[in-house]
Amino acid sequence: MSAEMIPAGSATAGTGGHGGVSAPGGPGTAGGADGEDVLLEVHDLKTYFPVLGGILRRRVGNVYAVDGVSLDIRRGETLGLVGESGCGKTTLGRTVLRLETATAGSVRFDGQDVLALQGRELKRMRGRMQLIFQDPYGSLNPRMPVLDIIGEGLLAQGVKDSRERTKRVEDSLEAVGLRRDYTRRYPHEFSGGQRQRIGIARALALRPDFIVCDEPVSALDVSIQSQILNLLVQLRHDFGFTYLFIAHNLSVVQYISDRVGVMYLGKLAELAPVAELYERPLHPYTVALLSAAPQVDPRVKRRRLVLRGDVPSPVNPPSGCHFHPRCWLRERLGNPEICSTVDPTLTVAGPGHTVACHFAERTRAEHEHLVAEGVPSGAAVPPEAAVPPAATA
Ligand SMILES: Nc1ncnc2c1ncn2[C@@H]1O[C@H](COP(=O)(O)OP(=O)(O)OP(=O)(O)O)[C@@H](O)[C@H]1O
Ligand code: SF4
Ligand SMILES: [Mg+2]
Repeated sequence: MSAEMIPAGSATAGTGGHGGVSAPGGPGTAGGADGEDVLLEVHDLKTYFPVLGGILRRRVGNVYAVDGVSLDIRRGETLGLVGESGCGKTTLGRTVLRLETATAGSVRFDGQDVLALQGRELKRMRGRMQLIFQDPYGSLNPRMPVLDIIGEGLLAQGVKDSRERTKRVEDSLEAVGLRRDYTRRYPHEFSGGQRQRIGIARALALRPDFIVCDEPVSALDVSIQSQILNLLVQLRHDFGFTYLFIAHNLSVVQYISDRVGVMYLGKLAELAPVAELYERPLHPYTVALLSAAPQVDPRVKRRRLVLRGDVPSPVNPPSGCHFHPRCWLRERLGNPEICSTVDPTLTVAGPGHTVACHFAERTRAEHEHLVAEGVPSGAAVPPEAAVPPAATA
């Protein structure tokens, strides 16, 4: 099955800097004038973690983990999120779910202000928004049988009748391709793939609308990855789930997503429908990530692009465009001052395609010239940007 078999979404997204920028058609579009059925609206979201110092452990700085992200996710859509390690993908997902405290911004879910919810309303909302973890073993309590692992969420959501709970656990196991009588087994009795199925069943049992899948296949063997991906696609089809799908692996994201957002140092660099992003990337960082991805089609020639240096620290992000110290396009353009002084806002570059670069219209031509000239040797794309083998979907 190819990514093209999944209808490409067309919802909107944007990112703000410290000042905050609303993307075109961004916040407030839920069931709005354009008729889009938006389930999740994130507006100028910021999550800063404190950096403590001195004997008194005072706050001496911030980790700008998520630094002004705005995006919408339509009901039934899968939005992929990629970017190097530490760019804020997990923090974004966890903040949306209220597992991290937002510093600023807003999250609306089905029209409700998630960040303002309290008590019973928050609890109900938590049932509707679930998380599937990367590590299928670490996320399951080894001392609990599957019945309790999956059942405790149901109990917390008020399913007090034990027969009803057991039935819902068994139904969920069946839906993820496991036997109903696995309820009495413990996590160590399962393979990695089966354990991830249990993690998915745990989310499924609560009948959520929205699931954050945080690297759900990266800890699995390649052969198992495709099975789990297919399962997630199938469940989305059967239950109408909406996914935020976080991954390093561009092939995996391409396979499962309708649209893809690329994050760099706490911000969205680019967001577009999946085919558009992979065929016509406009942000120099996206171009670099894609150039590092293994090519499935040997006829397609791609040169690996050089990104200079390491990812800067989110404690002290570069001025202007966060990507400027590593940007190949800036270098080709003679290091224009604006790149290091003005934070580029996400701007519309085509239908559903937004990009945060002052010179996005130059990316394509300059990349072609670069490839024609030959990429300098000796440097390499940082290991985090290198993409593991494609999922054999
Ligand atoms: N609880 C925390 N306290 C302080 N800093 C944190 C905390 N959680 C995350 N960070 C920092 O925030 C930044 C973003 O982390 P995050 O885990 O969101 O990145 P990521 O894109 O998910 O990375 P990876 O691909 O490695 O999972 C990192 O610099 C990380 O060290
Ligand atoms: S704004 Fe400048 S530094 Fe940033 S991505 Fe564009 S060309 Fe590169
Ligand atoms: Mg992460």
